[in-house]
Amino acid sequence: MNYNKIYLYYFSGTGNARASAYWFGEMAKEMNIDCEVIQLYRTIEVKQETIIDENRLIGFFFPTHGFNAAPAMLKFIWQFPRIKNTSVFIVNTRAGMKVSKLFAPGLSGLAQILPAIILRAKGFKVVGMQPIDLPSNWISLHPGLKEKVAESIFKRCERITKKFATRILNGGTKYKALLSLPIDLAIVPISIGYYCIGRFFLAKTFISTKACNDCAICEQQCPVGAISMKHERPFWAFTCESCMKCMNNCPKKAIQTAHLYTFILWYLILAVIPSFGFWLLLKQRFVEFVGNEWIASNILSIFLFIVSIPVVALAYRILHYATRWKWIDDIDRFTSLTSYGFWRRYNFGLKQFRKSNRKA
Ligand SMILES: Cc1cc2nc3c(=O)[nH]c(=O)nc-3n(C[C@H](O)[C@H](O)[C@H](O)COP(=O)(O)O)c2cc1C
Ligand code: SF4
Ligand code: SF4
Repeated sequence: MNYNKIYLYYFSGTGNARASAYWFGEMAKEMNIDCEVIQLYRTIEVKQETIIDENRLIGFFFPTHGFNAAPAMLKFIWQFPRIKNTSVFIVNTRAGMKVSKLFAPGLSGLAQILPAIILRAKGFKVVGMQPIDLPSNWISLHPGLKEKVAESIFKRCERITKKFATRILNGGTKYKALLSLPIDLAIVPISIGYYCIGRFFLAKTFISTKACNDCAICEQQCPVGAISMKHERPFWAFTCESCMKCMNNCPKKAIQTAHLYTFILWYLILAVIPSFGFWLLLKQRFVEFVGNEWIASNILSIFLFIVSIPVVALAYRILHYATRWKWIDDIDRFTSLTSYGFWRRYNFGLKQFRKSNRKA
């Protein structure tokens, strides 16, 4: 297959998926193939030329979120038009780490399989499925990687992406993602749980502290428009995908993950409510009704999560309102691990982002 036009669509929080898309684009350029790199930012549009051009190749680049593709990209792929005789490939960036001299991979879960199934069902020919283990950006869970470590992971991933690109651009196929299929399938329940429930809970764990100067950079730059400024502070909507861009990019380092608040709220929902008498009685009746304890418990857990969503929304509104009081703001800061100096931000990918912007 000789491709004469390539469209690379990417969604990225902290620049990793974008870097991958650009590395692929560089290889296309070297091979004198016309290539366009297109960012998914708020409005999801498919370039009309993508549909018209013949002998085209389409690539999708996105981060892995909760063992699945980032929701914005899944939605985009779901809405993507059917284009006859078209080759597509999928690149998911994952949480790469480096322990001593060893590079540790992330986990894809459904991040490759689901987009591949959707694209295949639409009639596309999936010619490549490649995970790329760029630095983990989930700084709500761990401090950002040191710049040196991030740099060496980047160098390795650039080589891997370019090797993958060479193979695909020469008309070949590569399905590296399928090597971890058994593990990916084993964690499907977590992927589904994260997609249907977990991500909404995570969206309400961000706060800004008094260091915020109301510059609104976070609001303007959120790729899904999930932030609005309320009472001179950012307010996170449920549509937040926890891509980590706002937190890693805030010039005042004012955005934190409210660890203590999150712990208390989740403890109440997951441990305290299920131990109340009325809940135990409900469970007993439901187990009798269903006739299987395992199934009944799981259905009840899902029910608990769903009815907790309005509670989370209300608690978050109260927290947001209360941060205007200095003593609440102080408690927020002291109890958020992310506000301490040792808890680095991850902005290596975003710096590359700016570099490649200058190049363009
Ligand atoms: C909320 C969240 C969930 C994540 N889930 C996973 C995951 O399931 N598996 C994984 O390997 N990496 C996971 N990561 C790490 C990112 O996918 C990884 O760092 C990615 O390269 C970031 O790409 P970006 O800079 O383009 O946003 C997660 C990160 C965040 C913030
Ligand atoms: S949180 Fe940071 S980026 Fe957002 S308005 Fe405040 S200072 Fe600006
Ligand atoms: S609010 Fe922040 S973490 Fe959420 S999607 Fe927007 S930039 Fe990403």
